[in-house]
Amino acid sequence: MRVDVVSIFPDYLRALELSLPGRAREKGLLDLAVHDLRDWTHDRHRAVDDTPTGGGAGMVMKPQPWGEALDALAPDGATLLVPTPAGERFTQRVAEELSAREHLVVACGRYEGIDQRVLDESARRLEVRELSLGDYVLNGGEVAALAMIEAVCRLLPGFMGNAESLAEESHGADGLLEYPVYTRPAAWRGHEVPEVLLSGDHARIAAWRHAQAVRRTTLRRPDLLPATTTGETEVRPAVA
Ligand code: ADE
Repeated sequence: MRVDVVSIFPDYLRALELSLPGRAREKGLLDLAVHDLRDWTHDRHRAVDDTPTGGGAGMVMKPQPWGEALDALAPDGATLLVPTPAGERFTQRVAEELSAREHLVVACGRYEGIDQRVLDESARRLEVRELSLGDYVLNGGEVAALAMIEAVCRLLPGFMGNAESLAEESHGADGLLEYPVYTRPAAWRGHEVPEVLLSGDHARIAAWRHAQAVRRTTLRRPDLLPATTTGETEVRPAVA
């Protein structure tokens, strides 16, 4: 997979050289480059922002540098990711979808966002995905881009040594949060590992883990429970 990231703070993205995306690069699964948006400015001040048309607080990113950057970096058919709190929610399913793409270009906005015409124009020849990490506001797209790129890269075929750990983790196929995990010693500061995990009975262990995953999800994220667990699939009588 090829990933190009554009930002006015390229240093922010240095973390991509470390840890997980760094490993994907070493394995030859990921070809990643970070670009400074100001390289596509032509004025003395290398300006990337201007006041919002129609008035209001803050600044808006100018279309010209973004247009030229995307002309240079995004070939027809590539996928443009735009982290924004106004986007569609970035989930594990979206990460899975994106992990099948050949070329992602990530546009990190700052201030009040990027002039909408950049996205409208891009949509003529690119797949444009405006994505939000969650219901809170960050100062710019960089931190969200780091999270999204990491979530996508670890799904690249051949990246994870043990494909089973992908299947069992939170937000995996069953849609439940992951069960609690333990290692040795069996007793630590007066806390015991649950007895069932020491039993060697694989069926009992699997049943216990599933029950724990359901319990956790019910307590912490009831919105994730499959409809069969919450009874939502029952046919309800029509209300008069
Ligand atoms: N940029 C600012 N806030 C964001 C968020 N919550 N998700 C993605 N990008 C953002």
